[in-house]
Amino acid sequence: MILGIETSCDETSAAVVSEVDGRWSIGSNIVASQIAIHREWGGVVPELAARQHIRDICGTVRAALETAGVGLPDLDAIAVTQGPGLVGALLVGVSFAKSLAVSLDRPLVPVHHLAGHIESLFLEHGDIPLPLVALVVSGGHTSLYVVREPGSYMRVGRTRDDAAGEAYDKVAKLLGLGYPGGPMVDTRAREGHDDAVALPSTRMTHADRNAPSMKGDLDFSFSGLKTAVLRHVRQRAQSGAPMTDAEVNDICASFQRVVVGTLLDRLFEAAERYGAQSVGIAGGVSANTRLRADGVERGRRTGMPVYIPRISLSTDNAAMIAAAGLRNFHAGKLAGLDLNADPSLEL
Ligand code: KG4
Ligand code: ZN
Repeated sequence: MILGIETSCDETSAAVVSEVDGRWSIGSNIVASQIAIHREWGGVVPELAARQHIRDICGTVRAALETAGVGLPDLDAIAVTQGPGLVGALLVGVSFAKSLAVSLDRPLVPVHHLAGHIESLFLEHGDIPLPLVALVVSGGHTSLYVVREPGSYMRVGRTRDDAAGEAYDKVAKLLGLGYPGGPMVDTRAREGHDDAVALPSTRMTHADRNAPSMKGDLDFSFSGLKTAVLRHVRQRAQSGAPMTDAEVNDICASFQRVVVGTLLDRLFEAAERYGAQSVGIAGGVSANTRLRADGVERGRRTGMPVYIPRISLSTDNAAMIAAAGLRNFHAGKLAGLDLNADPSLEL
């Protein structure tokens, strides 16, 4: 039984996950969200995030233990997100986990946040046919990983500029929809026409960008799309009349169509190229209504099994960190007390 701790961004989370007959079982997954605090500023303020983690961490861990019906002595190990993320925020979790590991005399297990997102797929669905190609779409990352065996992650695609979640957040901001942008755009898009606004879809296949090899052609780029939305909004503003709700909905729907189409095109292309037996979609953006629906539909059409976690395991949470922690724990990947938060940790 392992305690997972996640404080990489704007959610303080603690979870207890155990292994029963070779299957992971979630005892608890408590998330203290800071959305209300950051909303006032239109985005995550790193210093406020760090301070709020300090306020919330004790109560969140206590709630995770109580909900799971276990005490500190029952824990076999303490897993914590080492990075990537906001350094001040990460430090709170890392310091707390270290202290707990020392005082309980239990192993400390470092976890990469994106490995956590990938493991959310296994936490939700158990055994998944391998190789799996996993699309990890969050506020900071948009990456493709090939998982040939459990616990091994080979990155085959990434974003060259903005992450998909970041693009959602920026588009929401320029439409005045507030923070967090993803869920707002998702909701508004449901009411709009997705072919109302012509927006470019981006492909990283431009010869001079990828020369001399094909390397990089599974990469993503979303900043051009965001700029196209900005240009459309500015042009529209010239008329002087305020944008109607219907127009905002149309922009959201059109933007979302391009983002989701691009993500799925690349995911299924990678699956074919790497001989995948399954594909997975994880990370905060995998909470998106259209991405989930279109992903499942494309899987049905192509005969490729598609795995997506439930929403509470899609967005940041500690259960996925605990799951990845169990993976590392069994592989003997432990940390000493010199463990440090790493805001740009690679996977
Ligand atoms: O994984 P996550 O919770 O945190 C990071 O690791 O970054 O992902 C957060 C991102 C944010 O950009 C948020 O706007 C986006 O996920 N997101 C969504 C939705 N829910 C959250 N994007 C689109 N549609 C959603 N329903
Ligand atoms: Zn995340």
